[in-house]
Amino acid sequence: MTKLLLRALAGETLPVPPIWMMRQAGRYLPEYRATRAQAGDFLSLCYNPDLAAEVTLQPIRRYGFDAAILFADILLVPQALGADLWFETGEGPRLSTIRAQADFDKLKPADAIHEHLAPVYETVRILARELPQETALIGFAGAPWTVATYMIAGRGTPDQGPAHALKAENRALFEALLDRITEATIDYLSMQVEAGAEVVKLFDSWAGSLKGEDFTRYTLEPAKRIISALKARHPGLPVIAFPREAGEGYIGFARATGADCVAIDNSVSPQWAAEHVQIDGCVQGNLDPKHMVTGGQPLIDATRAVVEAFRNGPHIFNLGHGITPDADPENVQLMIDTVRGA
Ligand code: CP3
Repeated sequence: MTKLLLRALAGETLPVPPIWMMRQAGRYLPEYRATRAQAGDFLSLCYNPDLAAEVTLQPIRRYGFDAAILFADILLVPQALGADLWFETGEGPRLSTIRAQADFDKLKPADAIHEHLAPVYETVRILARELPQETALIGFAGAPWTVATYMIAGRGTPDQGPAHALKAENRALFEALLDRITEATIDYLSMQVEAGAEVVKLFDSWAGSLKGEDFTRYTLEPAKRIISALKARHPGLPVIAFPREAGEGYIGFARATGADCVAIDNSVSPQWAAEHVQIDGCVQGNLDPKHMVTGGQPLIDATRAVVEAFRNGPHIFNLGHGITPDADPENVQLMIDTVRGA
């Protein structure tokens, strides 16, 4: 009995799609808030293997999702490379910035990240032991462009302005930074797979702000490099790529990068994605996360519309982006019941 998620990733069209949810371990769940309070703060939770495994398991116990995603953050890699990282309560991440060659020169080499990230690998090992046998374990990392936007700006930005500025003003430094992140990401994901991750997902949350040639060079090419290196080390490893808000860039992305599945955000319609993206293989998505807040008949209708649109090909049901802290846990159950046809 192969796990449903792995069957969809292998290209099988299933009568009921496997389902999981981005940010499924998160603040909308009271049990997550309790464990986070026990850990102290978000980063302490990420680096505590027992508690990080616990919050990963919480949505599996509550909802029986078909996949668990390792609890960690894309910004642990910059920290492992030597950047300072902290979270301002209610505001989000803060990092020391990379703006000049001297900042870059202080970073560690890619192969020096593992000591810092050892607790994450331990979390994966615990999960590989403790997850129900039907539940697939997904490891993940941020894609180089998205991680670089945080490293350059030192925080999240609405338009990734500082990263675009560095790309324009000092392309050599910008590309050296992307290369360093790319190498570290290959090693990091490879270690997650050795520890027991069965699938890996690459989050390029800000891919949509790269256009034309920039999209090819800084989203598509690094994804291709990471995926081919991982598949060379781990033959048959399924990879999900999420070039969020890529729009037309979703077309052919799986073929061009070697990804087994492309995750789609909710700015494109499921019908469009079925027609233009699912023709190449498995797609993941793409219910608007707002339905987890608002619920009711619109949630049921929109959930059915996503399932219907992707019915004739391989599909993993998910949201188009992470569930938000103001979501109602009962709406998540309603979505799952609707997908599974209960
Ligand atoms: O999906 C999961 O359940 C697995 C864990 C996970 C987290 N972050 C936990 C988290 C994953 C896969 C991520 C990825 C991530 N982190 C991304 C890419 C996906 C996306 O959402 O676009 C990005 C851009 C980050 C960086 C990040 N981490 C930001 C900007 C923030 C602050 C915003 C926020 O939601 O608070 C975080 C914090 C974060 N990462 C939280 C969680 C559960 C909230 C922290 C808390 O408990 O206070």
